[in-house]
Amino acid sequence: RTIAVILAGGVGSRVGLGLPKQLIKIAGKAIVEHTLERFEASEQLDEVLVMMNAETVHELDYLRGDERFAKLIGILPGGGTRNDTTKLAIAALAERGATDDTKVLFHDAVRPFVDDRILDDCIAALDEYDAVDTAIPSADTIIEVDDASVITGIPPRSTLRRGQTPQGFRLGTIRRAYEIAAGDPEFAATDDCGVVFSYLPEVPIKVVAGSAQNMKITEPLDIHIADKIFQLQSESLSTSTAGLPDLRSRSVVVLGGSYG
Ligand code: CTP
Repeated sequence: RTIAVILAGGVGSRVGLGLPKQLIKIAGKAIVEHTLERFEASEQLDEVLVMMNAETVHELDYLRGDERFAKLIGILPGGGTRNDTTKLAIAALAERGATDDTKVLFHDAVRPFVDDRILDDCIAALDEYDAVDTAIPSADTIIEVDDASVITGIPPRSTLRRGQTPQGFRLGTIRRAYEIAAGDPEFAATDDCGVVFSYLPEVPIKVVAGSAQNMKITEPLDIHIADKIFQLQSESLSTSTAGLPDLRSRSVVVLGGSYG
């Protein structure tokens, strides 16, 4: 049994449109609906649970019972932080009969361009590992700074990756990690692999390759980028670059827009 949890409990304060960013419509549908479509289409997944921002959870009522989303097992209110939302999801899955062995993928609702290859790789990696992360190399050099914005370290770029989602676990592993974390007054994490890494250090976390398109819509600019990606994916006849047109096949590349 393999279940996906779509984390949509946030408010999107950095996008700052006054509504949770997962509800913003791009290409005619709410971002969270696009994300849900990707999970519904995966042959490897049995069920999908959506954890929605508690104040606006009713905004997704229209998805309940929609025959396009046969795998949807619930839309529940999320928590105050992303980690709280994950914890609520873990409890909800246990109530719905999931066992320690169940494979669970946690995915940011605001990464609508996750694809089948990434989902398949994460699910397959859980045959061998109890925890799996998705990541891509960093084009930028990553620097470490102190409180005064002075560099304290420049780790070699070849050892660094940018973490994305899905993050996958055997349910028992992520449940145990959060149980131990609950006893730590200094708890600080921004994702779920971080909780396993800190509180179950003996558990190796396998990393599978993400993709540049699997971006997290975070800032206002990202809405425009996401809109463009949807447009390119729907125009593209070639799947050679995972749904984007292959620019290498053109002798001159002219992108739209006026630069006058
Ligand atoms: N998330 C969640 N529950 C929370 C906070 C965040 O499920 N209490 C989800 C978001 O809905 C999003 C994902 O975690 O899909 C990644 O978080 P982020 O991009 O930080 O989203 P927001 O918290 O909504 O954004 P911001 O920090 O700008 O307010």
